[in-house]
Amino acid sequence: MNYVLKKFPSSRMRRLRMKPFLRNLVSENSISVNDLIWPIFIVEGKNEIQKITSMPYVNRFSIDRLIVELEKPIKLGLQAIALFPQINADLKDDNGIYACDPNNLICRAIQKVKSCYPDLGIITDIALDPYMTHGHDGIMVGDKIANDKTLEILKKQALVFAEAGCDIVAPSDMMDGRVGIIRETLETNGMKDMVIMSYAAKYASSFYGPFRNAVKAQKLTRILDKKSYQMNYLNSDEAMHEIALDLNEGADMIIIKPGMPYLDIVYRAKNQFGVPTFAYQVSGEYSMIISSSSSNNLNEMDMIIESISCFKRSGADGVLSYFTPILLEYLKNN
Ligand code: PBG
Repeated sequence: MNYVLKKFPSSRMRRLRMKPFLRNLVSENSISVNDLIWPIFIVEGKNEIQKITSMPYVNRFSIDRLIVELEKPIKLGLQAIALFPQINADLKDDNGIYACDPNNLICRAIQKVKSCYPDLGIITDIALDPYMTHGHDGIMVGDKIANDKTLEILKKQALVFAEAGCDIVAPSDMMDGRVGIIRETLETNGMKDMVIMSYAAKYASSFYGPFRNAVKAQKLTRILDKKSYQMNYLNSDEAMHEIALDLNEGADMIIIKPGMPYLDIVYRAKNQFGVPTFAYQVSGEYSMIISSSSSNNLNEMDMIIESISCFKRSGADGVLSYFTPILLEYLKNN
């Protein structure tokens, strides 16, 4: 800021806060339907709406049900969804083979959603945890997650989802080099315009707990945390390094995850790289807002709006949020 700061009383900061229209005119940020991505859990079956105990009001939908559930949000301006599967236990293994099956749950969901709503953006998660018996994002060799072996599966998964017709592949596994190998695979298979939205800075976080319950990958076995591949939350320079690598390897957009406790990372990333930057308001943040509002005289809708607004203020171009459906309704009415 380079203006000369006037002193009180020639300057009274409250003047511009006195009336709604003044506050509106001078607001520096806003949220719109174009800022929101709705993460959705899907499951096999017919007309299934399964409650997720760890995330009140969030459900898993079967594909046919998803089509119904999307109708209203799309009318209200929904731009894009991010699909996450809950895979039946008998289809899981230690190699994530089902992730690359062109007829898997995600591929069928992409095709169905695209046939009903061709303009809705579909983002798919490139990671193996929902498909693995042990719940990790990579292939295990001994007591380690094998980076390069995992890349071989991830590139197939990305290609299969791209060929099924998704618009964006979003690698969230945090293996080294995955964006590059996915980009190369897409290029050599005629998918030059496929967008890669990389979870560039993804931290090993306790805030993912409810999500792991939602996709039934909550019981990590053999290695009990994801700290050997997801980032240490004490670090910020390292996030800039991760982002630089992913951009060099061919990412078009980046995600910072989790969201609210990591706004400094969003701010830094946007300032340093100036690329499309998204924040993921993850399952634990969702559940925290829901559970605190029911008990402590907190207004849930106000908290939700404030949280999304703060993402925008920090520099995020958009937010992945489980609150998207009610936010769309709110934005329509306000
Ligand atoms: C898996 C994945 C996770 C989330 C999105 N993709 C969980 C994890 O890394 O363990 C978490 C999202 C959320 O908590 O809402 N690759």
